[in-house]
Amino acid sequence: MKTQVAIIGAGPSGLLLGALLHKADIDHIIIERQSPDYVLGRIRAGVLEQVCTDMLEEVGVGQRMRAEGLPHQGIELLFKGERHRIDLHGLTGGKQVMVYGQTEVTRDLMDARIAWGLPAVYGAENVSLHDFDGNTPSVRYHKDGVQHEVQCRFIAGCDGFHGISRQSVPAGAIQEFEKIYPFGWLGVLADVPPLSHELVYCNTERGFALCSQRSLTRSRYYIQCPLTDKVENWSDDAFWAELSNRLDEQGRRNLVTGPSIEKSIAPLRSYVAEPMRFGSLFLAGDAAHIVPPTGAKGLNLAATDVKYLSTALIEYFQENASAGIDTYSQRCLARIWKAERFSWWFTQLMHRFPDSGEFGQKVQEAELDYLIHSHAASTSVAENYVGLPLDFGKK
Ligand code: APR
Ligand code: PHB
Repeated sequence: MKTQVAIIGAGPSGLLLGALLHKADIDHIIIERQSPDYVLGRIRAGVLEQVCTDMLEEVGVGQRMRAEGLPHQGIELLFKGERHRIDLHGLTGGKQVMVYGQTEVTRDLMDARIAWGLPAVYGAENVSLHDFDGNTPSVRYHKDGVQHEVQCRFIAGCDGFHGISRQSVPAGAIQEFEKIYPFGWLGVLADVPPLSHELVYCNTERGFALCSQRSLTRSRYYIQCPLTDKVENWSDDAFWAELSNRLDEQGRRNLVTGPSIEKSIAPLRSYVAEPMRFGSLFLAGDAAHIVPPTGAKGLNLAATDVKYLSTALIEYFQENASAGIDTYSQRCLARIWKAERFSWWFTQLMHRFPDSGEFGQKVQEAELDYLIHSHAASTSVAENYVGLPLDFGKK
């Protein structure tokens, strides 16, 4: 078959790109390795920046998010046993974030795609990318034992960190920047009411903890754990006990426990691949970069990559202009590195590092104390947490 854009991967990046191209009448197909249920089974973060919610509205899938999402105007930082609120709304001139799970965003985009009658191939095996150094690239895959070929003008590699797109680029053409953290996050999802109406990020002697939520009846909690821990050795009771140990009095009083509906350990990583364009192949989302989850930037960065990419592709097809595709990498990376910096910094600030020593510990305490008492420092956290504007840094 022939199409204008072949999108690899039906995660949030691929689905949102598909929706934006559809709105501009650009012919495309999505090719996904897994089944729809598998894609929807992945539990990821759930804090959307306004740039991201605006995009979901723009493509017409904002209805459920508007009804069920929880707008948050602040976050709480807990350290030395006390909570301090960062007033996101007040410090950013009225901005806020939307708490709405990535699974729900994915589901809304999938449902819209079906309603629009747009093609998506699930269960595609042996996906391979060809000739993207020229103007007539193609994608091949197997489905039910039959080989298929898609000829296109551009390929969008939206296939996540372990996808085939980045791996298809010749090693000498790509530069990788990476930082691995010496701990993981043990996460639990449970149908219990959240302990607070805002997210609570906790820095404690026993390690980091995060009290997050998906709705008024579903909570998401995390605790920092050694990378050697095995999830099967963490009973629900042990998790709740450890979380409780990392809370303040009020938190312990309000904590409602219950059976976990998902429990997993995720490693923390910072990673950027440069550039993000190779001839007719573009990388977007987790295929090009990973952030540690501390600032909840993963999905938001994926959304802005796709915003820049869709704008560039639309200009190319509608106006025969290539400035957008030529500057795609540069525009994305300028934004990505700022989110990488924030996520790395927030991770450093809130976790216990095995090698920080007494000096490092004192500096971390001083920084937290400075942060909550300095208007400038609080504003810096707030403006990064709600997300920098798309045109940040432009005169
Ligand atoms: N062929 C086709 N599809 C593939 C292949 C392949 N070889 N390899 C991976 N995929 C699919 C995966 O099955 C997945 O559905 O690509 C999709 C990539 O989705 P995500 O990993 O969710 O990445 P992305 O869409 O960029 O979303 C970024 O997800 O990881 C979080 O924090 C991150 O929130 C951010 C968001
Ligand atoms: C989540 O709800 O899963 C979540 C929220 C905020 C984060 C990370 C994860 O910083």
